[in-house]
Amino acid sequence: MRNVDKKTITQAFMNYCAADTEPRLRLILERLVHHLHAFAKETELTHEEWRKGIELLTRTGDITDEHRNEFVLFSDLFGLSSLVDMIHSAGDATPSSVLGPFHVLGAPLLPVGGDLIQENEGDPLVVSGRVKNAKGQILAGAELEIWQTAANALYSSQDENQSEYNLRARQVVGEDGRYCFSTVRPVPYEVPTDGPGGELLRATGRHAWRPSHLHIIVKADGHRSLVTELFPDDDPYLDEDAVFGVREGIVMHYELHDSRDDLPDDLAIGETIATPYLMVDFDFVLADA
Ligand code: BEZ
Ligand code: FE
Repeated sequence: MRNVDKKTITQAFMNYCAADTEPRLRLILERLVHHLHAFAKETELTHEEWRKGIELLTRTGDITDEHRNEFVLFSDLFGLSSLVDMIHSAGDATPSSVLGPFHVLGAPLLPVGGDLIQENEGDPLVVSGRVKNAKGQILAGAELEIWQTAANALYSSQDENQSEYNLRARQVVGEDGRYCFSTVRPVPYEVPTDGPGGELLRATGRHAWRPSHLHIIVKADGHRSLVTELFPDDDPYLDEDAVFGVREGIVMHYELHDSRDDLPDDLAIGETIATPYLMVDFDFVLADA
């Protein structure tokens, strides 16, 4: 097409797409280019700004490797990751939340009632609950995966002083659908700020803090897998998570207990856990597949 102008360029792009372009790809490209072109027109994007944007993306690619994906961090900081979660969350299930970059495959199995505290410092915390479907029925055999920060605000994958699977585990629930483990209270931490994501935060006067959280993945046959996080209701960053991961349905309340008599019977360290300790009961609800 000759003499493409500001009015016709968006349609000209579409005309270049072959008629047999896969329909979903066609739709996504059409809407993406529509909004990109509208954005450039609306902001009267300058050459200098366009060049800065390209440079930013180039540096984002340069810093990305198999351990760190700065594109995902950008998606998180722009709220896009959370928006995709929200669009696809099932109304009758526990809300999903960001996976984050610190998930590691291969965490060891921990029996129900097992202990993750081991050598870790921090406030002792006992987490338990059940896995159910949207009708409230128990999902026997469901599998949970748990990972969290240590007291120094680092995940084991970021810290050579922690063992590979420190504060990481998988747990398979029994016939009663119940999971239970002892751990230490996770602490708030800052998302990485040494790359282009950090530049974005500094340029806009934003902080990098995430409220403390437990990461959990829950899977059960015939049900949608749930990737989520649990946040305590007393965290100072609850209303200003840098990556927009907090939803009402995944905010929990820690109760402080003085007596070991209040502990679940099957807690492996029930006789030795330091007092006082925190305890929370949280049920996960999975949507049908
Ligand atoms: C996390 O919770 O692990 C996380 C999520 C998004 C960006 C950085 C970290
Ligand atoms: Fe995290």
